[in-house]
Amino acid sequence: MYLTREQERILEGEYGEVMERSLRLLVKLGEIYGADRMIPVSSVQVAGVSYKSIGDPGLEFLEDLAAGGTRVRVLTTLNPAGMDLIDWRKLGVPLDFAAKQLKIIEAFRRMGVAMTITCTPYLAGNLPRFAEHIAWSESSAVSFANSVIGARTNREGGPSALAAAICGVTPNYGLHLTENRNPSVVVKVSAELKSSSDFSALGYCIGKIIGDGIPYFKGVKWASTDQLKALGAAMAVSGAVGLYHIEGLTPESESVETSGVETIEVGAEELRRVYEELSTGEDPDIIMLGCPHASLDEIIAFASKLGEKHLRKPVWICTSRYTKDIATRMGLVERIERLGGRIVADTCAVVSPIERMGYKTVGVDSGKAASYLPSLCGQKVVFRSTDYLLKRWVG
Ligand code: F3S
Repeated sequence: MYLTREQERILEGEYGEVMERSLRLLVKLGEIYGADRMIPVSSVQVAGVSYKSIGDPGLEFLEDLAAGGTRVRVLTTLNPAGMDLIDWRKLGVPLDFAAKQLKIIEAFRRMGVAMTITCTPYLAGNLPRFAEHIAWSESSAVSFANSVIGARTNREGGPSALAAAICGVTPNYGLHLTENRNPSVVVKVSAELKSSSDFSALGYCIGKIIGDGIPYFKGVKWASTDQLKALGAAMAVSGAVGLYHIEGLTPESESVETSGVETIEVGAEELRRVYEELSTGEDPDIIMLGCPHASLDEIIAFASKLGEKHLRKPVWICTSRYTKDIATRMGLVERIERLGGRIVADTCAVVSPIERMGYKTVGVDSGKAASYLPSLCGQKVVFRSTDYLLKRWVG
């Protein structure tokens, strides 16, 4: 792989041990995947933020980096933590967990990482432009950035994203290259997609079938930004899809090559089966929305559906602090919380310790949450649309 003179000096240890180790990791990755060189990235999204995910070894690693004076070189934003960093006491987060989580956040802050603490960085100050190279490590955000924005990133792991943040570069392979962004399968959608959860069910279904392929959807006439984030998030979980195209909707759909590509069809029956497969419980103790983190539009829509009805079950809507602050200024947070809901910032159902907070069954409108909650949080799940959950169990 071609390296600049400066990169060679980094590998010789001139810029310190952390830079050397970080670049070494990126070079190794590049060699494995046949990269020709390193390319600069304009931003990084770092995952592995919740104490629940990284534990004491992760905390010690980050504290060592921060204590050694490590700083990120490019705009680096942070995935959700294991708790709302302000309201964690009100939400019942255990004290021992909270103490460790706060230390993790402090270590990132000392390294110069932006305190976005969301899986939707593109809605909170980290919006790349079309064709810009980035190194993101939250699978739902990777899918959104590649597919909806047309930026370019591989599905980075926690360590490779952090290394990219420290060095400001990533190896040039995979989805950074135009020739690797063509679809591997055409998906003809005959099902009517009425809600974000339908998009999520479609994504879950396709991810399971195609693994790490690149689908090209036909038959999807319209989709909101929020529905596209739901689609990509689910596909990235049941499979390892980092990029999708939708005919007439996503920015590269007109320029990629579909001739000779295998076609599969998905209809209403396939979506019904996903809802059935992912629903392992019957009567939720709590409804958790906002996976990926809710946009302002989703919070506005929820508040308007709720009207003045009191919630009969607890409801969390997870979002970024950035979005919550705007919703607060609009009076939405006060209204939803007066009616029994909670706008929870900085965290989500999956990365917070909800299994230690007394919950057993969770109602969700997200295929990603439905897929993770049983294995990572020991929860049963009811997977339905927001409208269904609201009509059936709350309000
Ligand atoms: Fe985001 Fe948590 Fe879902 S990190 S994509 S809300 S599992």
